[in-house]
Amino acid sequence: MDWQSIYQSKLTSAEEAVRAIQSGQRVVVGHAAGAPQQLLKAMVAQKERYQGVEMVHMLCLGDGGYLGEGMEEHFRFNGIFVGANNRKAVEEGRGDYTPCFFHEFPKLFQKQLPVDVALIQVSRPDENGFCSFGVSCDYTKPAAELAKVVIAEANDRMPYIGGDNLIHVSKLTHIVETSVPILELPLPKIGETEKKLGEYVASLVEDGSTLQLGIGAIPDAVLMFLKDKKDLGIHSEMFSDGLIDLVELGVVNGRQKSLHQGELVATFLMGSQRLYDFVNNNPLVKMYPVNHVNHPCVVMQNHKMVSINSCIEVDLMGQVASESIGLKQFSGVGGQVDFVRGVSMAEGGKSIIATPATAAGGKVSRIVPFLAHGAAVSTSRNDVDYIVTEYGIAPLKGLTLRQRALNLIAIAHPDFRESLMEEFHRRFAPAAAPAGV
Ligand code: COA
Repeated sequence: MDWQSIYQSKLTSAEEAVRAIQSGQRVVVGHAAGAPQQLLKAMVAQKERYQGVEMVHMLCLGDGGYLGEGMEEHFRFNGIFVGANNRKAVEEGRGDYTPCFFHEFPKLFQKQLPVDVALIQVSRPDENGFCSFGVSCDYTKPAAELAKVVIAEANDRMPYIGGDNLIHVSKLTHIVETSVPILELPLPKIGETEKKLGEYVASLVEDGSTLQLGIGAIPDAVLMFLKDKKDLGIHSEMFSDGLIDLVELGVVNGRQKSLHQGELVATFLMGSQRLYDFVNNNPLVKMYPVNHVNHPCVVMQNHKMVSINSCIEVDLMGQVASESIGLKQFSGVGGQVDFVRGVSMAEGGKSIIATPATAAGGKVSRIVPFLAHGAAVSTSRNDVDYIVTEYGIAPLKGLTLRQRALNLIAIAHPDFRESLMEEFHRRFAPAAAPAGV
């Protein structure tokens, strides 16, 4: 049968398609902006059909109707990240968090969390019958390849992006055609603090570097200060709108990349419609599954690799808590440690954790003597390299505990430096204390 006939034979409505989900099954949902909104709505609308369906995903844009109060009998959330629409459910015990490095999610789906159903969103098929996973390749493609049943929303607004990012229509169990905009991430607000942070981080980026950037205001602020650099490359878990100007200016061209030369490499994308138009059918942009992009052994193959991520707090030894505020699971480890580890093995690599010096409207310091009770360490003191705040840069790698503490205190908010110094004196013999580095 030709692919067109196969495609036609699988077309159905969203309402019909989600009836393939059985009570008690594990459903893996396409990631972030790639989450299939129409399928999720159809599933929630028929909630009475389901008992104890386990919903697994990382970020998921949209309202997440299955996470609301009163849904727990039908759906149980098992998060491999905690985000805006499911934080409350996890906090209130109506959902759980499973710790795991981002690059290992596909392995999780092979071993401990086998996938019954993958609910995904893809582009319409190309002339050879392949749909693109578009903005979310990450764990979405591996989950679809492992699932017993694959239900796909084929959206004509999903950008077509190449790389290792395609699935043939014959591999889909049910297909629902849609034509809806891809959900957008509001552009972050870049204030004076972020600009200062951006300037310090950019000062660490040498010409010819390859970058990994996280989500939000700080990465976008960094990009603002890279306009005078030359021959930068991208090998990043994700990128957003902030990158487009640098590509158009010729600053980011991938010319000096030692892996995937000339390609803008990512595993997922989130941004505005401008980003989605930029990446659609763009031969420069290549998406690969997360077990490739984020694997430390792949990351390390990029010379002059620089990773830029953020955190919740850092203690005076350089232990970085990036995913929990004390006992409260705020997000997840995501790809932070994947990149920190890969960068540390890369020739000329630098890993940067950039954070405002304070949180909660300036009331708390993010540089602390001890992490909050119950906080999870994301990046360990053995892995940490540079910490940056709006007050400067603290190099930590290769330094003693005493030197680390002094370097960190020097970039803390001035209001907290005195109390941090008191802790320093309590902990270390003041007479023997050398200056910071
Ligand atoms: N004590 C108390 N509250 C704190 C706090 C602290 N030490 N640190 C942060 N908060 C509060 C903030 O005040 C803010 O609350 P508000 O919105 O009411 O003001 C909230 O927590 C969020 O903090 P913020 O720093 O604005 O979060 P963010 O959206 O910039 O995300 C991380 C920062 C660290 C949570 C995020 O980068 C992350 O999840 N990182 C781990 C994963 C990762 O690095 N992945 C790789 C890149 S995608």
